[in-house]
Amino acid sequence: MAAQTIVMAADHAGFELKELLKGDLQAAGHDVLDLGTHSTASVDYPDYGRALADAIRDGKAGRGVLVCGTGIGVSIAANREPAVRAAVVHDVTSARLTRQHNDANVMALGARLVGTEVARDCLRAFLETPFEGGRHAGRVAKLGRSAT
Ligand code: RB5
Repeated sequence: MAAQTIVMAADHAGFELKELLKGDLQAAGHDVLDLGTHSTASVDYPDYGRALADAIRDGKAGRGVLVCGTGIGVSIAANREPAVRAAVVHDVTSARLTRQHNDANVMALGARLVGTEVARDCLRAFLETPFEGGRHAGRVAKLGRSAT
């Protein structure tokens, strides 16, 4: 996988898994933009989902990884930004398929739900799997439209 800049953010529940995955990414040669949180002290997950979404929107990174207790709160927050397609992932198959079909640019993990090795496998699949395009391209384009 080619080295790239990956933005990461987590709340207190996701802090430890974020740190572990950050180490894996750095060991693989990627640049990591770490937006926090930087401890297990309690914080509000919407602030971190929003910060990561802003970084994707502003082109500071092409891909993002979010972690909270479930992956759900941070993904809801990030998906309010139209430039973000954040998918909650629990297994390597969903990580692969959300790249192939949804061109997801952000993966959200639940540190309280997903084991460490599964999370690592998900991250590899998320980074290594290309978007299939074809019949999926028009559908993904529709995701970027405002609701009418
Ligand atoms: C924090 O307790 C927890 O609510 C948060 O990490 C996340 O799971 C929310 O969706």
